[in-house]
Amino acid sequence: MKILVTGGMGYIGSHTVVELIAKGHECVILDNLYNSSINVLNRIEEISGVRPEFVNADITDENALRNVFENHQFDAVIHFAGLKAVGESVTIPLKYYDNNVGGSIKLYQLMEEYNVNNLVFSSSATVYGSSFEMPLKEAYGRGTTTNPYGTSKLMNEMIIEDYCHARKELSAVVLRYFNPVGAHKSGLIGERPNGIPNNLMPYISDVAIGKRERLNVFGDDYDTKDGTGVRDYIHVVDLAKAHVLAIEYAAKNKGMETINIGTGNGYSVLEIVEAYKKASGKDVPYVIAPRRAGDVATCYADPNKAKELLGFEAQYGIEDMCLDSYNFIIKNPNGIE
Ligand code: NAD
Ligand code: WQD
Repeated sequence: MKILVTGGMGYIGSHTVVELIAKGHECVILDNLYNSSINVLNRIEEISGVRPEFVNADITDENALRNVFENHQFDAVIHFAGLKAVGESVTIPLKYYDNNVGGSIKLYQLMEEYNVNNLVFSSSATVYGSSFEMPLKEAYGRGTTTNPYGTSKLMNEMIIEDYCHARKELSAVVLRYFNPVGAHKSGLIGERPNGIPNNLMPYISDVAIGKRERLNVFGDDYDTKDGTGVRDYIHVVDLAKAHVLAIEYAAKNKGMETINIGTGNGYSVLEIVEAYKKASGKDVPYVIAPRRAGDVATCYADPNKAKELLGFEAQYGIEDMCLDSYNFIIKNPNGIE
């Protein structure tokens, strides 16, 4: 298939492009490089032997989007482009809604105009909120979000649902990611956020390479195995492979499906610290800090629907997730430059 990959220069998008190319798909990447580097393109080429076409454009720019649809006949769109910093979204909500919701609507309108009927959308476990029992099942529906980022994902899900009801030729797979971590085995692509990392694994990586002194563990009094927060970490290469299966599923099935992409296993913060120390051979000093506002004690997926509908099962365990994160950070301590 010929696939438009919005946000394809980013962390999850770049890994997905590599897996799509490996399966013989043709990718056109559209990204405004807001949170990625142009050099990701060289890295994708180095890994896959193919240099995908790249369009430097913003999904909120209708004319630029229209040009891309005018120049290519796409079979499908995988829509990653979005802003994702939870804390920042509380400070600048309108920017998040404009980018993540406004930009998506423009994209979906052009898909309709140019008769592109297959869509995979990046959603998040955050749409479950905090009131459902674990493991989280798609059938629970959506809960209450606690920040504009999460609400922007929830709104996209609702828009896609209404749109699928109205347009019977549309196929949409909404993937709810749990906690993506790790990097490609080559160490050529991965995640190195700008500034102080918000997420656990990039922060631990910074501590392991001596860039930060110690990890703050946000709370050790949760009702979990060791008191620290438990999450369902998934290797980004597994997540990328799930996208290939999802877009191939969309091409064969009409209507909308919402599917969790996780492993079904929950690891605590301290278990991740131990696994990282073992994988890297480095010390990861930490202190117990107060709980972080908005955190839940435990969050992990029921991964059965992904297995039944897509034939997807995560292959990589926590050792690979830590090892590959470390391999990427030692090769790219300042990110992809
Ligand atoms: P990322 O920031 O690495 O990638 C997103 C890419 O989109 C970046 O390259 C950025 O430059 C681009 N982008 C942002 N706004 C754009 C716009 N208006 N026009 C064009 N390009 C734009 O993030 P990621 O971790 O790869 O996440 C990809 C998607 O998955 C996002 O939608 C994110 O919300 C979602 N998601 C991520 C996680 C996670 O923990 N990483 C979890 C759940 C869902
Ligand atoms: C994991 C655990 C923290 C940092 C976030 C978003 C979610 C989704 C994925 C996009 C928690 C603890 C963390 C640190 C710590 N993103 N922690 N010290 O919060 O599960 O999910 O990313 O959709 O929407 O909210 O991930 O990696 O931030 O935290 O102790 O410095 O690590 O308290 O228990 P989270 P995370």
